[in-house]
Amino acid sequence: MELHLELAIDRQYCDKSRPSSFPEHAVVLIDSITWSYRMFFRRLAQPLRTLNSIATFVTRPSLYTYPASHHLRTMASAMGKRLEGKTVVVTGASSGIGKSTAIEFARTSPKNLKLIVTARRLEVLEQLKEEIKKEVGDGVQVLPVRLDVSNPEEVRNFVGNLPEEFKDINVLVNNAGLVKGVAKAPSIAEEDINIMFNTNVTGLINMTQAILPIFLARGEAGAGDVINVGSIAGREPYPGGSIYCATKAAVRSFTDSLRKELIATRVRVIEIDPGQVETEFSVVRFYGDKKAADKVYEGCEPLTPEDIAEVVVFAAGRRENVVLADTLIFPNHQAAATVMHKKT
Ligand SMILES: NC(=O)c1ccc[n+]([C@@H]2O[C@H](COP(=O)([O-])OP(=O)(O)OC[C@H]3O[C@@H](n4cnc5c(N)ncnc54)[C@H](OP(=O)(O)O)[C@@H]3O)[C@@H](O)[C@H]2O)c1
Repeated sequence: MELHLELAIDRQYCDKSRPSSFPEHAVVLIDSITWSYRMFFRRLAQPLRTLNSIATFVTRPSLYTYPASHHLRTMASAMGKRLEGKTVVVTGASSGIGKSTAIEFARTSPKNLKLIVTARRLEVLEQLKEEIKKEVGDGVQVLPVRLDVSNPEEVRNFVGNLPEEFKDINVLVNNAGLVKGVAKAPSIAEEDINIMFNTNVTGLINMTQAILPIFLARGEAGAGDVINVGSIAGREPYPGGSIYCATKAAVRSFTDSLRKELIATRVRVIEIDPGQVETEFSVVRFYGDKKAADKVYEGCEPLTPEDIAEVVVFAAGRRENVVLADTLIFPNHQAAATVMHKKT
């Protein structure tokens, strides 16, 4: 009753339409009846509302009842679709980042992809082909090709020697590269200087020049991706790495110039610069001395080649108008070429 009274008095003050001469007991009575009616109908409607909610929940289309053709679009599925039907060349695919990149492309677009994997060790490439086939099946056609990128003649003949169905290349991953030694000037072996420049710089430029005409002949304004694997060493030269750093700085300059030269085309020029990655890289640097190589990674957790492969495939799998022009990738303990936090 107290509640009714309060309600009625409130109403009396608020309801301008009600004549002020209305007796107070009549107001109490009217409001009390109105309130009781309202509560009665509200209680009656509640079970009906509950029934309605249950019916809506049961009959709504859920994730599980969607037909397969209505699968949700994810970033990964969109990337796989964009790469479908493409032909990808990876240099230096017998080990490390190159090998992981080939596998990552196959995993990302397993239905319809052509992969040309190249390096000097053909038998390792044949094993890679089997590995990919075992994992993703026949949707990815893998062509292993023996190719020394430091040999200009081999590079010149590369496209001409490809089977017809592999000639329409869409993506070139210039990954082949190496470092030799930690010598400082004036003690750097002439042979090491030549191997590093011929592979990392001349090889990369020759491969690009061999494949660019295919990209430029495509469509009205050309299309294709040049993805160059540079290094933090190309941005920050360090003692004991002068030649390697110089080669990667050259890769950086060539890549930046190329992107500008091709601006009127739809060719994408992309550079990916890894920091420290554990591969055969350091074993090659120390001329096969595995112990010396292992020391480089002691007390820290370097990147894996898969970490870089994911970025390469991500760059190639962007929408056609998106150019991931430049990427620097460190493991968590690294902040510069020579700034690393080691636990030991
Ligand atoms: N690991 C790192 O910390 C790191 C950091 C920054 C950048 N990078 C760059 O990443 C790229 C890949 O290196 P990685 O770390 O994966 O080293 P990796 O495991 O030693 O692999 C190097 C690959 O390059 C190939 N290669 C070397 N010389 C070649 C030549 N003349 N012709 C054709 N292929 C050749 C090798 O194959 P074959 O021996 O069978 O020919 C191998 O497949 C290189 O460009 C390297 O400079 C590496």
